[in-house]
Amino acid sequence: GGASSGHLGRAAFSPVQPNKRDAVTTAAGFDHSVVIRWGDPVVPGAPAFDVHNQSAQAAMKQFGYNCDYVGVLPIEGDPKRALLVVNHEYTDENLMFPASRYSADEIKSIAMFNHGLSVVAIRRGLVPGSWYQESKLDATPYNRRIHIRTRFVLDGPAAGDDRLKTSSDPTGKSVLGTLNNCAGGTTPWGTVLSGEENFNQYFDKSGALDPRYTAQYARYGITGTGTKGWKDVDFRFDLTQEPHEPHRFGWIVEVDPFEPDSAPVKHTMLGRFKHEGANVAIADSGQVVAYMGDDERGDYIYKFVSKNKVAKGSSRAARTKNKKLLSQGTLYVAKFTGDGSEDNVYDGTGEWIPLCSDTESFVEGMSVADVLIFTRLAADKVGPTKMDRPEDVEVNPVNGKVYAALTNNSSRGSQSLPVDEANPVASSMVRSKLGAPLTSASGNRNGYVLEITPDDHAGTTFGWDLMLVCGDPAAAETYFGGFDKSKVSPISCPDNVAFDDDGNLWVSTDGNVLGSNDGIFRVPVAGPNRGQVLQFVTMPRGAEACGPLIADDSRSLFFAVQHPGEIDGATFENQASTWPHTDDFPRPSVVVAYRQR
Ligand code: FEO
Ligand code: CA
Ligand code: CA
Ligand code: CA
Repeated sequence: GGASSGHLGRAAFSPVQPNKRDAVTTAAGFDHSVVIRWGDPVVPGAPAFDVHNQSAQAAMKQFGYNCDYVGVLPIEGDPKRALLVVNHEYTDENLMFPASRYSADEIKSIAMFNHGLSVVAIRRGLVPGSWYQESKLDATPYNRRIHIRTRFVLDGPAAGDDRLKTSSDPTGKSVLGTLNNCAGGTTPWGTVLSGEENFNQYFDKSGALDPRYTAQYARYGITGTGTKGWKDVDFRFDLTQEPHEPHRFGWIVEVDPFEPDSAPVKHTMLGRFKHEGANVAIADSGQVVAYMGDDERGDYIYKFVSKNKVAKGSSRAARTKNKKLLSQGTLYVAKFTGDGSEDNVYDGTGEWIPLCSDTESFVEGMSVADVLIFTRLAADKVGPTKMDRPEDVEVNPVNGKVYAALTNNSSRGSQSLPVDEANPVASSMVRSKLGAPLTSASGNRNGYVLEITPDDHAGTTFGWDLMLVCGDPAAAETYFGGFDKSKVSPISCPDNVAFDDDGNLWVSTDGNVLGSNDGIFRVPVAGPNRGQVLQFVTMPRGAEACGPLIADDSRSLFFAVQHPGEIDGATFENQASTWPHTDDFPRPSVVVAYRQR
């Protein structure tokens, strides 16, 4: 038992030291391997990747760019294989395309098809915990590339609303593609949820913006000055021509990887904002609860509670019923109240404020559809707590508490965003480069991990505390769950969270401001080692760590290495990273780490 079983939650390891290597470095005693890279074939007929001969037709069959969420689903009756489901959040055109090789419009359409999701069969390796891509792309019926031309069904109370209709979709119930898919979650019924996050960046204008939506566009950062120029290759990204198209993004998407011909769903009942992701827990009542973050400075944490109860088992009938659970229920937003600083802990109580059910709005002056399509504006009216960029929010299956990564907020402490007990840091210690001294910067630069203790997942009250105030442990403002700060790893900008089957928290980071590369950390949440943050993996240069997922009886740590080499000024010809070192340019990839044999 214990460490010899390769259980990553129980293994003793020496933390990886902060570094700037262009490498994935795992703790001594562990190995890792690349499972799949940008451009690798996903569906039968996909051509081999050739960076100098990219095309939209090839990209729609190959693994997309900038992998983020990572899900691994067992296949019933096929214990040697599993399904890997991955988001492709966005593209780095500067790093992807050799200069002068492609026209501006070619770059736009190839980049477009590098977004979406991939479903890929993977196969166990010989070393316990290791996995590889199944080389036969038709070994299971499930390999799939979901891309910008894949049809999605808009479902739930707002589906069919006039403000979701476009010239090519007069029903307001059918959308092509999903964009900026960030984090996500696997449901108990074997589907994958994925969050459409910074979708505003894809929309441009050729003339005026529709004056009916001035306030709504503004609240979602839709300015008509997108960064991609996609309106030149598809007019639906031109706000002047299609003012409703952006309302068809910003949703939680549900994909059933076991029904490769089924249309994925955009769930309007879960509200529209810059969705980081969604994670589902089952309440004592049998209702399902989805926890969600809106990743923007000063935005909110949400949850959805289903009207109906989960159907047990994995029969087709049960799965069909469960796939309707996210269509009816109640959407809430969180308010956090502090109990004061006398106890030397950032903590207090909270309440979930209802916004609407599938039949009734609880926000004055707004209909159910208004609340769901313009959720940020609805929430603004009921006084929730403005948080420091809520990212992943997920329930620990062992202790039932909810853990939220609050990644950072450089504006915290400004006049418009004063501190409160749940967002207490207005000045942070940061480091310009590895080895440099700590210096002070305004705002919350290193982030928090928030711990919510629900009275009942389906209920409206909870307790909370900041389990981690991240940063260099030498900085006075940091807090590591009460653990001895001389014995922890520095941690900065938590983004995604995961749990092993002992209930230890695993955290990945995005945007380290302590001078070293991003990485993944293990943190016990209970017992004498609560708060003992130890770094398990460091990323290559310029990469963020995404996805982390502990799978296969806690023997495998899957993660996504997103945007290796994304450093100001880097170009295809002048790369800051060549990881995973199979080419002379970087390739975002999914990796699995496991104990050395
Ligand atoms: Fe795509 Fe909120 O990180
Ligand atoms: Ca307190
Ligand atoms: Ca993220
Ligand atoms: Ca992030």
